[in-house]
Amino acid sequence: MLTMLAIPLALPASAERVLGAYIFARHGDRTAKVLKNTELTELGYNEVFDTGSYYRTRYIHANSSQHIQGINENLVKLSQISASSPSDDVLQNSATAFLQAIYPPAGKASNEVLADGTTVQGPLDGYQLIPVATTSSGSNSEDTAWLQSSTDCRKAEVSSNNYYSSELYSSLLQSTKSVYYSISFLLNGTFNESAMTFKNAYSIFDYLKVGSIHNTTKGATDDELHQLYLLANIEQYNLAYNSSETVRAIAGARLAGDVLQSLNKTVTSQGKTKLGIQFGSYGTFLSYFGLAQLPATSDNFTGIPDYASTMAWELVTNSTTEFPSPSELRVRFVFHNGTISGSDAPTEYPLYGQSNGTISWSDFVSQTKKIAVTSTAQWCQMCGNTAGQCAVYSNSTGPASTTGTAPAETTASEHGVSRPVAGAIGAMVTLAVVLGVEALVLFLGRLQIRKQREDAEDEADEENKTS
Ligand SMILES: *[C@@H]1O[C@H](CO)[C@@H](O)[C@H](O)[C@H]1NC(C)=O
Ligand SMILES: *[C@@H]1O[C@H](CO)[C@@H](O)[C@H](O)[C@H]1NC(C)=O
Ligand SMILES: *[C@@H]1O[C@H](CO)[C@@H](O)[C@H](O)[C@H]1NC(C)=O
Ligand SMILES: *[C@@H]1O[C@H](CO)[C@@H](O)[C@H](O)[C@H]1NC(C)=O
Ligand SMILES: *[C@@H]1O[C@H](CO)[C@@H](O)[C@H](O)[C@H]1NC(C)=O
Ligand SMILES: *[C@@H]1O[C@H](CO)[C@@H](O)[C@H](O)[C@H]1NC(C)=O
Ligand SMILES: *[C@@H]1O[C@H](CO)[C@@H](O)[C@H](O)[C@H]1NC(C)=O
Ligand SMILES: *[C@@H]1O[C@H](CO)[C@@H](O)[C@H](O)[C@H]1NC(C)=O
Ligand SMILES: *[C@@H]1O[C@H](CO)[C@@H](O)[C@H](O)[C@H]1NC(C)=O
Ligand SMILES: *[C@@H]1O[C@H](CO)[C@@H](O)[C@H](O)[C@H]1NC(C)=O
Ligand SMILES: *[C@@H]1O[C@H](CO)[C@@H](O)[C@H](O)[C@H]1NC(C)=O
Repeated sequence: MLTMLAIPLALPASAERVLGAYIFARHGDRTAKVLKNTELTELGYNEVFDTGSYYRTRYIHANSSQHIQGINENLVKLSQISASSPSDDVLQNSATAFLQAIYPPAGKASNEVLADGTTVQGPLDGYQLIPVATTSSGSNSEDTAWLQSSTDCRKAEVSSNNYYSSELYSSLLQSTKSVYYSISFLLNGTFNESAMTFKNAYSIFDYLKVGSIHNTTKGATDDELHQLYLLANIEQYNLAYNSSETVRAIAGARLAGDVLQSLNKTVTSQGKTKLGIQFGSYGTFLSYFGLAQLPATSDNFTGIPDYASTMAWELVTNSTTEFPSPSELRVRFVFHNGTISGSDAPTEYPLYGQSNGTISWSDFVSQTKKIAVTSTAQWCQMCGNTAGQCAVYSNSTGPASTTGTAPAETTASEHGVSRPVAGAIGAMVTLAVVLGVEALVLFLGRLQIRKQREDAEDEADEENKTS
Protein backbone atom coordinates (compact mmCIF):
# COMPACT_ATOMS: atom_id res chain seq x y z
CA MET A 1 0.00 0.00 0.00
CA LEU A 2 2.80 2.39 0.88
CA THR A 3 4.60 1.76 -2.39
CA MET A 4 1.34 2.36 -4.23
CA LEU A 5 1.17 5.75 -2.57
CA ALA A 6 4.74 6.55 -3.49
CA ILE A 7 4.24 5.96 -7.21
CA PRO A 8 2.13 9.06 -8.00
CA LEU A 9 5.01 11.17 -6.73
CA ALA A 10 6.93 10.01 -9.82
CA LEU A 11 10.25 11.19 -8.47
CA PRO A 12 13.71 9.90 -9.29
CA ALA A 13 15.09 7.78 -6.47
CA SER A 14 17.52 10.38 -5.13
CA ALA A 15 15.29 13.46 -5.35
CA GLU A 16 14.97 15.24 -2.06
CA ARG A 17 11.49 15.93 -0.76
CA VAL A 18 10.33 18.43 1.85
CA LEU A 19 7.86 16.94 4.33
CA GLY A 20 7.35 19.92 6.59
CA ALA A 21 8.78 23.31 7.51
CA TYR A 22 8.80 26.02 10.14
CA ILE A 23 9.34 29.68 9.26
CA PHE A 24 10.32 32.46 11.67
CA ALA A 25 9.97 35.95 10.24
CA ARG A 26 10.61 39.57 11.13
CA HIS A 27 8.03 42.30 10.45
CA GLY A 28 8.42 44.75 7.56
CA ASP A 29 9.18 48.48 7.65
CA ARG A 30 7.42 50.21 10.53
CA THR A 31 7.29 53.53 12.33
CA ALA A 32 9.99 54.35 14.90
CA LYS A 33 9.88 52.58 18.26
CA VAL A 34 10.68 55.68 20.26
CA LEU A 35 7.57 57.46 18.96
CA LYS A 36 5.34 54.64 20.36
CA ASN A 37 2.10 53.21 18.93
CA THR A 38 4.28 51.59 16.29
CA GLU A 39 2.59 50.60 13.04
CA LEU A 40 3.47 48.55 10.00
CA THR A 41 3.80 50.93 7.03
CA GLU A 42 2.49 50.29 3.50
CA LEU A 43 6.12 49.73 2.53
CA GLY A 44 6.45 47.16 5.30
CA TYR A 45 3.22 45.48 4.26
CA ASN A 46 4.68 45.07 0.76
CA GLU A 47 7.98 43.74 2.09
CA VAL A 48 6.35 41.02 4.17
CA PHE A 49 3.94 40.19 1.34
CA ASP A 50 6.87 39.81 -1.09
CA THR A 51 8.73 37.52 1.28
CA GLY A 52 5.53 35.51 1.80
CA SER A 53 5.09 35.24 -1.97
CA TYR A 54 8.54 33.73 -2.23
CA TYR A 55 7.66 31.06 0.34
CA ARG A 56 4.46 30.34 -1.57
CA THR A 57 6.51 29.54 -4.68
CA ARG A 58 8.96 27.48 -2.60
CA TYR A 59 6.64 25.47 -0.36
CA ILE A 60 3.10 25.66 -1.74
CA HIS A 61 3.26 25.57 -5.56
CA ALA A 62 2.93 21.97 -6.67
CA ASN A 63 5.53 22.54 -9.42
CA SER A 64 8.26 23.61 -6.96
CA SER A 65 10.92 21.00 -6.24
CA GLN A 66 10.78 22.13 -2.60
CA HIS A 67 7.02 22.14 -2.19
CA ILE A 68 5.84 20.50 0.99
CA GLN A 69 4.54 17.07 0.19
CA GLY A 70 0.76 16.93 0.14
CA ILE A 71 0.15 20.55 1.11
CA ASN A 72 -2.94 22.13 -0.46
CA GLU A 73 -2.02 24.41 -3.32
CA ASN A 74 -4.93 26.81 -3.70
CA LEU A 75 -7.41 26.38 -0.87
CA VAL A 76 -5.89 26.47 2.59
CA LYS A 77 -6.50 23.44 4.80
CA LEU A 78 -6.19 24.74 8.33
CA SER A 79 -5.07 21.42 9.80
CA GLN A 80 -1.91 21.63 7.65
CA ILE A 81 -0.75 25.06 8.71
CA SER A 82 -0.42 27.10 11.89
CA ALA A 83 0.61 30.69 12.41
CA SER A 84 1.46 32.67 15.53
CA SER A 85 2.69 36.06 16.62
CA PRO A 86 2.95 38.01 19.86
CA SER A 87 0.16 40.38 20.78
CA ASP A 88 1.68 43.31 18.91
CA ASP A 89 0.15 45.47 16.17
CA VAL A 90 3.18 45.37 13.89
CA LEU A 91 3.80 41.64 14.25
CA GLN A 92 0.15 40.55 14.03
CA ASN A 93 -0.39 42.58 10.87
CA SER A 94 2.87 41.27 9.41
CA ALA A 95 1.70 37.72 10.01
CA THR A 96 -1.59 38.46 8.24
CA ALA A 97 0.24 40.05 5.30
CA PHE A 98 2.51 37.02 5.00
CA LEU A 99 -0.44 34.63 5.08
CA GLN A 100 -2.23 36.64 2.39
CA ALA A 101 0.72 35.82 0.15
CA ILE A 102 0.96 32.18 1.22
CA TYR A 103 -2.70 31.56 0.31
CA PRO A 104 -3.96 34.43 -1.86
CA PRO A 105 -7.67 34.96 -2.61
CA ALA A 106 -8.94 31.82 -4.29
CA GLY A 107 -11.52 33.39 -6.61
CA LYS A 108 -14.09 30.92 -7.90
CA ALA A 109 -12.18 28.03 -6.35
CA SER A 110 -13.56 29.12 -2.97
CA ASN A 111 -17.18 28.91 -4.18
CA GLU A 112 -19.54 26.81 -2.17
CA VAL A 113 -22.98 25.68 -3.17
CA LEU A 114 -25.75 25.80 -0.58
CA ALA A 115 -28.54 23.29 -0.18
CA ASP A 116 -30.89 25.50 -2.20
CA GLY A 117 -28.42 25.70 -5.06
CA THR A 118 -27.14 29.24 -4.35
CA THR A 119 -23.41 29.73 -5.07
CA VAL A 120 -21.50 31.73 -2.44
CA GLN A 121 -17.99 33.15 -2.78
CA GLY A 122 -15.93 34.60 0.07
CA PRO A 123 -15.55 38.41 0.18
CA LEU A 124 -12.63 40.12 -1.58
CA ASP A 125 -12.50 37.60 -4.42
CA GLY A 126 -12.48 34.58 -2.19
CA TYR A 127 -10.12 35.89 0.50
CA GLN A 128 -8.87 33.04 2.69
CA LEU A 129 -9.02 33.43 6.45
CA ILE A 130 -6.13 31.96 8.45
CA PRO A 131 -6.09 32.47 12.23
CA VAL A 132 -2.97 33.89 13.86
CA ALA A 133 -2.52 32.51 17.37
CA THR A 134 -1.03 34.73 20.05
CA THR A 135 2.28 33.72 21.58
CA SER A 136 2.50 34.61 25.25
CA SER A 137 5.83 36.37 25.23
CA GLY A 138 6.79 39.34 23.14
CA SER A 139 3.65 41.41 23.79
CA ASN A 140 4.06 44.92 22.41
CA SER A 141 7.65 44.11 21.55
CA GLU A 142 7.71 46.60 18.69
CA ASP A 143 6.73 49.35 21.10
CA THR A 144 9.38 48.38 23.62
CA ALA A 145 12.91 49.66 23.38
CA TRP A 146 14.26 47.37 26.09
CA LEU A 147 14.77 43.96 24.57
CA GLN A 148 14.07 41.69 27.54
CA SER A 149 11.03 43.39 29.01
CA SER A 150 8.64 41.51 26.75
CA THR A 151 10.01 38.09 27.74
CA ASP A 152 8.82 38.36 31.38
CA CYS A 153 11.78 36.13 32.27
CA ARG A 154 13.30 37.41 35.49
CA LYS A 155 16.78 35.89 35.19
CA ALA A 156 17.03 36.94 31.54
CA GLU A 157 16.33 40.53 32.53
CA VAL A 158 18.99 40.36 35.23
CA SER A 159 21.44 38.81 32.79
CA SER A 160 20.87 41.42 30.08
CA ASN A 161 21.23 44.13 32.69
CA ASN A 162 24.62 42.65 33.59
CA TYR A 163 25.78 43.82 30.20
CA TYR A 164 25.20 47.41 31.30
CA SER A 165 27.61 46.94 34.18
CA SER A 166 30.27 45.20 32.09
CA GLU A 167 33.62 46.72 31.14
CA LEU A 168 32.73 46.04 27.50
CA TYR A 169 29.74 48.34 27.80
CA SER A 170 31.24 51.15 29.84
CA SER A 171 34.24 51.54 27.57
CA LEU A 172 31.98 51.85 24.52
CA LEU A 173 29.70 54.24 26.39
CA GLN A 174 32.72 56.52 26.90
CA SER A 175 34.37 56.11 23.50
CA THR A 176 31.17 56.76 21.53
CA LYS A 177 30.14 59.95 23.36
CA SER A 178 31.41 62.12 20.53
CA VAL A 179 29.53 60.06 17.94
CA TYR A 180 26.22 60.65 19.65
CA TYR A 181 27.09 64.26 20.45
CA SER A 182 27.71 64.95 16.75
CA ILE A 183 24.17 63.89 15.82
CA SER A 184 22.41 65.26 18.89
CA PHE A 185 20.77 68.04 16.87
CA LEU A 186 18.92 65.31 14.91
CA LEU A 187 17.62 63.75 18.10
CA ASN A 188 16.66 66.91 19.94
CA GLY A 189 12.99 66.92 20.85
CA THR A 190 12.68 63.14 20.67
CA PHE A 191 15.47 62.03 23.01
CA ASN A 192 16.47 64.09 26.02
CA GLU A 193 20.14 64.93 26.31
CA SER A 194 21.01 62.28 28.88
CA ALA A 195 19.49 59.64 26.59
CA MET A 196 21.72 60.51 23.62
CA THR A 197 24.27 57.79 24.34
CA PHE A 198 25.29 54.27 23.42
CA LYS A 199 22.83 53.09 26.09
CA ASN A 200 20.07 53.84 23.56
CA ALA A 201 22.07 52.70 20.54
CA TYR A 202 19.21 50.76 18.99
CA SER A 203 16.43 53.32 19.63
CA ILE A 204 18.59 56.07 18.18
CA PHE A 205 19.56 54.06 15.12
CA ASP A 206 15.94 52.97 14.65
CA TYR A 207 14.63 56.54 14.84
CA LEU A 208 17.13 57.88 12.30
CA LYS A 209 16.82 54.85 10.01
CA VAL A 210 13.03 55.26 9.89
CA GLY A 211 13.58 58.98 9.25
CA SER A 212 15.93 58.20 6.35
CA ILE A 213 13.17 56.12 4.73
CA HIS A 214 10.12 58.28 5.43
CA ASN A 215 11.14 61.81 6.40
CA THR A 216 11.89 64.25 3.59
CA THR A 217 13.80 66.46 6.05
CA LYS A 218 17.49 65.73 5.72
CA GLY A 219 18.64 63.52 8.58
CA ALA A 220 21.69 61.37 9.24
CA THR A 221 24.11 60.65 6.39
CA ASP A 222 24.60 57.10 5.10
CA ASP A 223 27.95 56.91 6.85
CA GLU A 224 26.47 58.05 10.13
CA LEU A 225 23.62 55.57 9.80
CA HIS A 226 26.05 52.77 9.10
CA GLN A 227 28.13 53.64 12.14
CA LEU A 228 25.01 53.85 14.32
CA TYR A 229 23.85 50.48 12.96
CA LEU A 230 27.17 48.81 13.87
CA LEU A 231 26.94 50.24 17.39
CA ALA A 232 23.34 49.06 17.72
CA ASN A 233 24.45 45.58 16.62
CA ILE A 234 27.03 45.40 19.40
CA GLU A 235 24.55 46.56 22.01
CA GLN A 236 21.69 44.33 20.87
CA TYR A 237 23.69 41.17 20.28
CA ASN A 238 25.18 41.44 23.75
CA LEU A 239 21.74 41.95 25.26
CA ALA A 240 20.33 38.98 23.33
CA TYR A 241 23.06 36.39 23.79
CA ASN A 242 26.00 35.66 26.07
CA SER A 243 27.81 32.35 25.94
CA SER A 244 28.34 32.17 29.69
CA GLU A 245 24.78 33.19 30.64
CA THR A 246 22.51 31.23 28.33
CA VAL A 247 19.33 32.40 30.08
CA ARG A 248 19.91 35.73 28.36
CA ALA A 249 18.88 34.04 25.10
CA ILE A 250 15.51 32.93 26.50
CA ALA A 251 13.66 34.25 23.43
CA GLY A 252 15.75 32.05 21.14
CA ALA A 253 15.39 29.10 23.52
CA ARG A 254 11.61 29.33 23.33
CA LEU A 255 11.72 29.61 19.57
CA ALA A 256 13.93 26.52 19.41
CA GLY A 257 11.30 24.73 21.52
CA ASP A 258 8.50 25.86 19.20
CA VAL A 259 10.41 24.68 16.12
CA LEU A 260 11.16 21.33 17.70
CA GLN A 261 7.56 20.85 18.77
CA SER A 262 6.19 21.76 15.35
CA LEU A 263 8.56 19.56 13.33
CA ASN A 264 8.08 16.74 15.82
CA LYS A 265 4.34 17.00 15.29
CA THR A 266 4.91 16.65 11.55
CA VAL A 267 6.95 13.50 12.25
CA THR A 268 4.57 11.94 14.76
CA SER A 269 1.47 12.76 12.69
CA GLN A 270 3.17 11.29 9.59
CA GLY A 271 2.91 14.61 7.82
CA LYS A 272 -0.64 15.68 8.71
CA THR A 273 0.64 19.01 10.03
CA LYS A 274 2.98 20.58 7.51
CA LEU A 275 3.87 24.23 7.95
CA GLY A 276 4.37 26.45 10.99
CA ILE A 277 4.87 30.20 10.72
CA GLN A 278 5.82 32.52 13.56
CA PHE A 279 6.46 36.24 13.57
CA GLY A 280 8.76 37.89 16.07
CA SER A 281 11.39 40.52 16.65
CA TYR A 282 15.05 40.72 15.67
CA GLY A 283 16.00 40.03 19.28
CA THR A 284 14.67 36.49 18.91
CA PHE A 285 16.72 36.04 15.74
CA LEU A 286 19.88 37.18 17.54
CA SER A 287 19.25 34.95 20.57
CA TYR A 288 18.65 31.96 18.34
CA PHE A 289 21.71 32.72 16.19
CA GLY A 290 23.88 32.64 19.30
CA LEU A 291 22.35 29.45 20.68
CA ALA A 292 22.59 27.64 17.32
CA GLN A 293 26.24 28.72 16.95
CA LEU A 294 25.56 30.47 13.67
CA PRO A 295 28.16 33.23 14.26
CA ALA A 296 30.73 30.42 13.84
CA THR A 297 29.73 30.25 10.16
CA SER A 298 29.61 34.01 9.58
CA ASP A 299 30.04 37.23 11.53
CA ASN A 300 26.87 38.40 9.80
CA PHE A 301 24.92 36.51 12.44
CA THR A 302 25.89 39.03 15.10
CA GLY A 303 24.16 41.75 13.03
CA ILE A 304 20.50 42.72 13.29
CA PRO A 305 18.60 41.16 10.36
CA ASP A 306 16.79 43.63 8.08
CA TYR A 307 13.02 44.02 7.87
CA ALA A 308 11.10 40.98 6.54
CA SER A 309 14.04 38.64 7.20
CA THR A 310 13.20 34.97 7.53
CA MET A 311 14.73 31.75 8.69
CA ALA A 312 13.27 28.31 8.06
CA TRP A 313 13.82 24.76 9.21
CA GLU A 314 12.89 22.09 6.67
CA LEU A 315 12.23 18.43 7.31
CA VAL A 316 13.72 16.70 4.27
CA THR A 317 14.33 13.18 3.03
CA ASN A 318 15.73 11.25 0.06
CA SER A 319 13.70 8.18 0.88
CA THR A 320 11.00 7.17 -1.59
CA THR A 321 8.67 6.00 1.16
CA GLU A 322 5.60 8.25 1.43
CA PHE A 323 6.50 9.17 5.00
CA PRO A 324 9.78 7.51 5.99
CA SER A 325 10.96 6.51 9.45
CA PRO A 326 12.69 9.20 11.56
CA SER A 327 16.09 7.67 10.79
CA GLU A 328 15.69 8.76 7.16
CA LEU A 329 14.83 12.38 7.98
CA ARG A 330 17.16 15.35 8.01
CA VAL A 331 16.74 19.03 8.86
CA ARG A 332 17.94 21.88 6.67
CA PHE A 333 18.28 25.44 8.02
CA VAL A 334 18.01 28.43 5.68
CA PHE A 335 18.12 32.17 6.29
CA HIS A 336 17.56 35.29 4.24
CA ASN A 337 18.51 38.79 5.36
CA GLY A 338 15.68 41.14 4.41
CA THR A 339 12.85 41.03 1.89
CA ILE A 340 13.02 38.24 -0.68
CA SER A 341 12.29 39.61 -4.13
CA GLY A 342 13.18 38.85 -7.73
CA SER A 343 15.52 35.88 -7.97
CA ASP A 344 16.65 36.10 -4.32
CA ALA A 345 16.49 32.93 -2.25
CA PRO A 346 17.46 32.01 1.30
CA THR A 347 20.88 30.49 1.89
CA GLU A 348 21.55 27.22 3.69
CA TYR A 349 23.72 27.41 6.83
CA PRO A 350 24.91 24.59 9.08
CA LEU A 351 23.45 24.55 12.59
CA TYR A 352 25.27 23.81 15.84
CA GLY A 353 28.78 24.45 14.51
CA GLN A 354 28.90 21.44 12.23
CA SER A 355 30.03 21.46 8.63
CA ASN A 356 27.17 19.64 6.88
CA GLY A 357 24.32 21.71 5.46
CA THR A 358 21.72 19.29 6.78
CA ILE A 359 21.60 17.51 10.10
CA SER A 360 19.97 14.16 10.85
CA TRP A 361 16.63 14.37 12.63
CA SER A 362 17.98 12.55 15.70
CA ASP A 363 20.98 14.89 15.99
CA PHE A 364 18.71 17.86 15.46
CA VAL A 365 16.48 16.66 18.30
CA SER A 366 19.33 16.05 20.73
CA GLN A 367 21.17 19.29 19.89
CA THR A 368 17.99 21.37 20.00
CA LYS A 369 16.96 19.89 23.33
CA LYS A 370 20.22 21.25 24.78
CA ILE A 371 19.24 24.83 23.94
CA ALA A 372 15.44 24.74 23.85
CA VAL A 373 12.83 25.49 26.45
CA THR A 374 10.05 23.00 25.86
CA SER A 375 7.78 23.23 28.90
CA THR A 376 6.38 25.74 31.33
CA ALA A 377 8.13 23.97 34.20
CA GLN A 378 11.49 24.31 32.47
CA TRP A 379 10.82 27.95 31.66
CA CYS A 380 9.88 28.73 35.27
CA GLN A 381 12.96 26.98 36.58
CA MET A 382 15.30 28.65 34.11
CA CYS A 383 13.82 32.12 34.61
CA GLY A 384 13.55 31.82 38.37
CA ASN A 385 9.95 33.01 38.21
CA THR A 386 7.85 31.68 41.06
CA ALA A 387 4.59 33.58 40.82
CA GLY A 388 1.66 33.48 38.42
CA GLN A 389 1.73 30.42 36.21
CA CYS A 390 5.03 29.41 37.82
CA ALA A 391 3.57 29.21 41.32
CA VAL A 392 2.55 25.59 40.78
CA TYR A 393 6.15 24.62 40.07
CA SER A 394 7.50 26.42 43.11
CA ASN A 395 8.03 24.45 46.33
CA SER A 396 6.76 27.04 48.77
CA THR A 397 2.99 27.25 48.48
CA GLY A 398 2.14 29.75 51.20
CA PRO A 399 1.19 33.38 50.58
CA ALA A 400 4.89 34.23 50.87
CA SER A 401 5.53 32.73 47.42
CA THR A 402 3.16 35.16 45.75
CA THR A 403 4.68 38.33 47.11
CA GLY A 404 6.97 38.54 44.11
CA THR A 405 4.08 38.52 41.66
CA ALA A 406 4.85 40.75 38.72
CA PRO A 407 1.72 41.82 36.85
CA ALA A 408 3.16 40.52 33.62
CA GLU A 409 3.66 37.07 35.06
CA THR A 410 0.09 36.55 36.14
CA THR A 411 -1.13 37.27 32.64
CA ALA A 412 1.46 35.19 30.86
CA SER A 413 0.39 31.94 29.28
CA GLU A 414 2.88 29.65 27.67
CA HIS A 415 2.49 29.19 23.96
CA GLY A 416 2.57 25.57 22.94
CA VAL A 417 2.94 24.13 26.41
CA SER A 418 -0.65 23.89 27.47
CA ARG A 419 -0.52 20.31 28.75
CA PRO A 420 1.35 20.90 32.02
CA VAL A 421 -0.71 24.02 32.63
CA ALA A 422 -3.95 22.14 32.09
CA GLY A 423 -2.79 19.46 34.54
CA ALA A 424 -2.35 22.09 37.17
CA ILE A 425 -5.93 23.35 37.37
CA GLY A 426 -6.38 21.67 40.74
CA ALA A 427 -3.47 23.52 42.23
CA MET A 428 -4.70 26.78 40.75
CA VAL A 429 -8.07 26.35 42.40
CA THR A 430 -6.33 26.10 45.76
CA LEU A 431 -4.36 29.20 44.93
CA ALA A 432 -7.49 31.12 44.02
CA VAL A 433 -7.90 32.14 47.64
CA VAL A 434 -4.57 33.90 47.42
CA LEU A 435 -4.76 35.26 43.92
CA GLY A 436 -8.33 36.45 44.06
CA VAL A 437 -11.34 35.04 42.31
CA GLU A 438 -11.12 37.49 39.42
CA ALA A 439 -7.73 36.28 38.35
CA LEU A 440 -8.94 32.70 38.43
CA VAL A 441 -11.94 33.47 36.27
CA LEU A 442 -9.63 35.02 33.71
CA PHE A 443 -7.27 32.09 33.88
CA LEU A 444 -9.96 29.45 33.51
CA GLY A 445 -11.61 31.44 30.74
CA ARG A 446 -8.42 31.39 28.74
CA LEU A 447 -7.89 27.72 29.47
CA GLN A 448 -11.40 26.98 28.27
CA ILE A 449 -10.75 28.70 24.95
CA ARG A 450 -7.51 26.83 24.50
CA LYS A 451 -9.17 23.55 25.43
CA GLN A 452 -11.88 24.11 22.84
CA ARG A 453 -9.28 24.87 20.22
CA GLU A 454 -7.40 21.68 21.04
CA ASP A 455 -10.57 19.65 20.92
CA ALA A 456 -11.31 21.13 17.51
CA GLU A 457 -7.82 20.19 16.35
CA ASP A 458 -8.24 16.66 17.58
CA GLU A 459 -11.52 16.38 15.74
CA ALA A 460 -9.85 17.63 12.59
CA ASP A 461 -7.19 14.96 13.00
CA GLU A 462 -9.88 12.35 13.35
CA GLU A 463 -11.54 13.58 10.17
CA ASN A 464 -8.28 13.38 8.31
CA LYS A 465 -7.82 9.79 9.40
CA THR A 466 -11.15 8.79 8.01
CA SER A 467 -10.92 10.78 4.77
C1 LIG B 1 4.09 26.93 -11.03
O1 LIG B 1 2.74 27.05 -10.57
C2 LIG B 1 2.30 28.36 -10.38
C3 LIG B 1 0.91 28.36 -9.77
O2 LIG B 1 0.26 27.16 -9.95
C4 LIG B 1 2.35 29.12 -11.69
O3 LIG B 1 1.95 30.46 -11.47
C5 LIG B 1 3.76 29.09 -12.23
O4 LIG B 1 3.79 29.70 -13.50
C6 LIG B 1 4.27 27.67 -12.35
N1 LIG B 1 5.67 27.72 -12.71
C7 LIG B 1 6.17 26.93 -13.65
C8 LIG B 1 7.65 27.07 -13.93
O5 LIG B 1 5.49 26.13 -14.27
C1 LIG C 1 29.00 37.69 29.17
O1 LIG C 1 28.45 38.59 30.07
C2 LIG C 1 29.32 38.96 31.11
C3 LIG C 1 28.54 39.86 32.04
O2 LIG C 1 27.61 40.63 31.34
C4 LIG C 1 30.55 39.65 30.54
O3 LIG C 1 31.45 39.96 31.59
C5 LIG C 1 31.22 38.72 29.55
O4 LIG C 1 32.29 39.39 28.92
C6 LIG C 1 30.23 38.28 28.50
N1 LIG C 1 30.83 37.29 27.64
C7 LIG C 1 30.97 37.48 26.34
C8 LIG C 1 31.61 36.37 25.60
O5 LIG C 1 30.58 38.49 25.79
C1 LIG D 1 17.84 71.24 21.80
O1 LIG D 1 16.89 72.24 21.58
C2 LIG D 1 16.84 73.20 22.61
C3 LIG D 1 15.72 74.17 22.34
O2 LIG D 1 15.57 74.41 20.97
C4 LIG D 1 18.19 73.91 22.71
O3 LIG D 1 18.17 74.83 23.76
C5 LIG D 1 19.28 72.86 22.96
O4 LIG D 1 20.56 73.47 22.96
C6 LIG D 1 19.24 71.80 21.91
N1 LIG D 1 20.18 70.73 22.27
C7 LIG D 1 20.96 70.15 21.40
C8 LIG D 1 21.86 69.06 21.94
O5 LIG D 1 20.99 70.43 20.22
C1 LIG E 1 15.59 61.23 29.80
O1 LIG E 1 15.12 60.04 29.16
C2 LIG E 1 15.30 58.90 29.94
C3 LIG E 1 14.95 57.72 29.09
O2 LIG E 1 13.88 58.00 28.22
C4 LIG E 1 14.46 59.01 31.20
O3 LIG E 1 14.65 57.86 31.99
C5 LIG E 1 14.89 60.25 31.97
O4 LIG E 1 14.05 60.42 33.08
C6 LIG E 1 14.84 61.47 31.09
N1 LIG E 1 15.44 62.59 31.79
C7 LIG E 1 14.90 63.78 31.77
C8 LIG E 1 15.65 64.85 32.50
O5 LIG E 1 13.83 64.02 31.21
C1 LIG F 1 11.23 64.63 10.41
O1 LIG F 1 12.48 65.16 10.75
C2 LIG F 1 12.43 66.43 11.42
C3 LIG F 1 13.84 66.93 11.61
O2 LIG F 1 14.70 65.98 12.11
C4 LIG F 1 11.70 66.26 12.77
O3 LIG F 1 11.57 67.48 13.42
C5 LIG F 1 10.32 65.68 12.51
O4 LIG F 1 9.70 65.36 13.74
C6 LIG F 1 10.42 64.38 11.69
N1 LIG F 1 9.11 63.90 11.36
C7 LIG F 1 8.74 62.62 11.60
C8 LIG F 1 7.36 62.28 11.17
O5 LIG F 1 9.49 61.80 12.08
C1 LIG G 1 7.51 14.16 19.86
O1 LIG G 1 6.15 13.90 20.11
C2 LIG G 1 5.91 12.66 20.78
C3 LIG G 1 4.41 12.44 20.83
O2 LIG G 1 3.75 13.56 21.33
C4 LIG G 1 6.53 12.74 22.16
O3 LIG G 1 6.35 11.53 22.84
C5 LIG G 1 8.02 13.01 22.01
O4 LIG G 1 8.61 13.21 23.27
C6 LIG G 1 8.25 14.27 21.18
N1 LIG G 1 9.66 14.42 20.92
C7 LIG G 1 10.26 15.61 21.03
C8 LIG G 1 11.71 15.64 20.68
O5 LIG G 1 9.68 16.60 21.40
C1 LIG H 1 27.22 38.41 4.86
O1 LIG H 1 26.42 39.51 4.46
C2 LIG H 1 26.87 40.12 3.26
C3 LIG H 1 26.04 41.38 3.04
O2 LIG H 1 24.72 41.20 3.43
C4 LIG H 1 26.75 39.10 2.12
O3 LIG H 1 27.20 39.66 0.93
C5 LIG H 1 27.56 37.86 2.46
O4 LIG H 1 27.34 36.86 1.48
C6 LIG H 1 27.14 37.30 3.81
N1 LIG H 1 28.02 36.23 4.21
C7 LIG H 1 27.57 35.00 4.46
C8 LIG H 1 28.57 33.98 4.82
O5 LIG H 1 26.38 34.72 4.42
C1 LIG I 1 22.09 41.62 7.52
O1 LIG I 1 22.65 42.54 6.61
C2 LIG I 1 23.40 43.58 7.22
C3 LIG I 1 23.87 44.48 6.12
O2 LIG I 1 22.76 45.00 5.46
C4 LIG I 1 24.56 42.98 7.96
O3 LIG I 1 25.31 43.98 8.59
C5 LIG I 1 24.00 42.04 9.04
O4 LIG I 1 25.07 41.42 9.72
C6 LIG I 1 23.16 40.99 8.36
N1 LIG I 1 22.56 40.13 9.38
C7 LIG I 1 22.50 38.82 9.24
C8 LIG I 1 21.90 38.06 10.34
O5 LIG I 1 22.91 38.25 8.25
C1 LIG J 1 19.76 13.66 -1.04
O1 LIG J 1 20.71 13.31 -2.04
C2 LIG J 1 21.46 14.40 -2.56
C3 LIG J 1 22.36 13.86 -3.68
O2 LIG J 1 23.11 12.80 -3.22
C4 LIG J 1 22.27 15.04 -1.43
O3 LIG J 1 22.97 16.16 -1.91
C5 LIG J 1 21.32 15.48 -0.34
O4 LIG J 1 22.06 16.00 0.75
C6 LIG J 1 20.47 14.33 0.14
N1 LIG J 1 19.49 14.81 1.08
C7 LIG J 1 19.18 14.18 2.22
C8 LIG J 1 18.11 14.77 3.04
O5 LIG J 1 19.74 13.15 2.58
C1 LIG K 1 26.07 15.05 5.41
O1 LIG K 1 24.74 14.93 4.92
C2 LIG K 1 24.53 13.85 4.01
C3 LIG K 1 23.10 13.86 3.58
O2 LIG K 1 22.70 15.13 3.25
C4 LIG K 1 24.88 12.52 4.66
O3 LIG K 1 24.78 11.50 3.71
C5 LIG K 1 26.30 12.58 5.22
O4 LIG K 1 26.55 11.42 5.97
C6 LIG K 1 26.45 13.80 6.14
N1 LIG K 1 27.84 13.88 6.60
C7 LIG K 1 28.15 14.01 7.87
C8 LIG K 1 29.60 14.14 8.18
O5 LIG K 1 27.29 14.00 8.75
C1 LIG L 1 11.73 21.74 44.67
O1 LIG L 1 12.32 20.76 45.48
C2 LIG L 1 13.04 19.76 44.76
C3 LIG L 1 13.51 18.69 45.76
O2 LIG L 1 13.85 19.29 46.95
C4 LIG L 1 14.20 20.40 44.00
O3 LIG L 1 14.89 19.44 43.26
C5 LIG L 1 13.63 21.44 43.07
O4 LIG L 1 14.69 22.13 42.41
C6 LIG L 1 12.78 22.46 43.84
N1 LIG L 1 12.13 23.34 42.89
C7 LIG L 1 12.10 24.64 43.05
C8 LIG L 1 11.35 25.41 42.00
O5 LIG L 1 12.63 25.22 43.98
